Amino acid sequence: MKLITSTVISNKRIIKELERRRDIERPRTRDILGSWIIWLRCPQIAQEARPGQFVMVNCGEECTLPRPLSIHQVNAKGDIALFFAVWEDGKGTKWLSQRKAGDNIDLLDHPLGNGFSINPDSRNLLLVAGGIGITPLYFLAKQGGKRGLKIKLLRGASGESKPSGERNPSQHYPEELLPSGIDVKTITSSKDGKRDMVLDLLMPGVADSADQVFACGPAAMYREMAQRKQELGLKGKPIQVSMEMRMGCGLGVCYACTVRTRSGLKQVCKDGPVFELDDIIWDELIPNC
Ligand SMILES: Cc1cc2nc3c(=O)[nH]c(=O)nc-3n(C[C@H](O)[C@H](O)[C@H](O)COP(=O)(O)OP(=O)(O)OC[C@H]3O[C@@H](n4cnc5c(N)ncnc54)[C@H](O)[C@@H]3O)c2cc1C
Ligand code: FES
Repeated sequence: MKLITSTVISNKRIIKELERRRDIERPRTRDILGSWIIWLRCPQIAQEARPGQFVMVNCGEECTLPRPLSIHQVNAKGDIALFFAVWEDGKGTKWLSQRKAGDNIDLLDHPLGNGFSINPDSRNLLLVAGGIGITPLYFLAKQGGKRGLKIKLLRGASGESKPSGERNPSQHYPEELLPSGIDVKTITSSKDGKRDMVLDLLMPGVADSADQVFACGPAAMYREMAQRKQELGLKGKPIQVSMEMRMGCGLGVCYACTVRTRSGLKQVCKDGPVFELDDIIWDELIPNC
């Protein structure tokens, strides 16, 4: 696969506040310095892109490996938007946040991965976004909206409470930037580090009308969805989840992103990142990022 050069149209920080995220899989914390939306002109990718696909972005000379980022939006001018969190120690995301309009950025020349798939007879979609997982679900919500489907979006973000104890909504993707015409429910998790509270929004009845469920968030959230299906009202629903694994090549060559599924070992970059929830063997999954 070749590289193509895209041009930065704009690059804006849309979530300003600092967040300390506790990594529940490994004993460490990392700060997120904020979240940015960058628009890149790259018509080849914009024309082909489907919700759930991602791009591999070359993040400057100091980063040997490209960084995988989901396609967040596309427009008719041939632009794609990426919505990304910048880690305090993240060389690639920091570099990307410093690009200015007119700069060039190299990408692999195609949108990668399989993307989400909406069944032709689905009328009601339930989207479950944990934190930055809103990125590809935004694109899916837009596409579903264009087809006249009813969309319900549940979203949650880890984040600290204000000293007053009040939860801090600024950790969230701004409400006014969300696609119009969708039913949005929001929750912010608390300072005690409890994660995946977006699942608390799945109260009895919430998922009843959903023909399909689409989720993007941390592996711990998916594991909980798989374990508590009945309780969360998800039993019998088709559920697609977008997996995040540390990637090297993005092309199915290096095997860095291998996961065990019911039909054998799969590469998240090539066979995913979207999988049926029940396909992944959650007990054997070791998240590597
Ligand atoms: C399919 C896919 C889609 C993604 N989409 C988004 C998105 O839309 N927005 C967003 O903010 N983040 C997204 N991520 C996570 C994003 O790729 C990482 O946050 C980013 O690569 C970190 O790079 P860094 O240089 O700042 O961090 P560093 O820690 O310096 O990265 C070091 C290496 O680890 C890899 N790495 C680190 N964290 C992750 C991670 N969480 N997932 C995968 N690789 C990682 C990097 O690619 C790099 O090779 C996605 C990951 C995958 C696999
Ligand atoms: S990232 Fe190399 S095989 Fe998936």
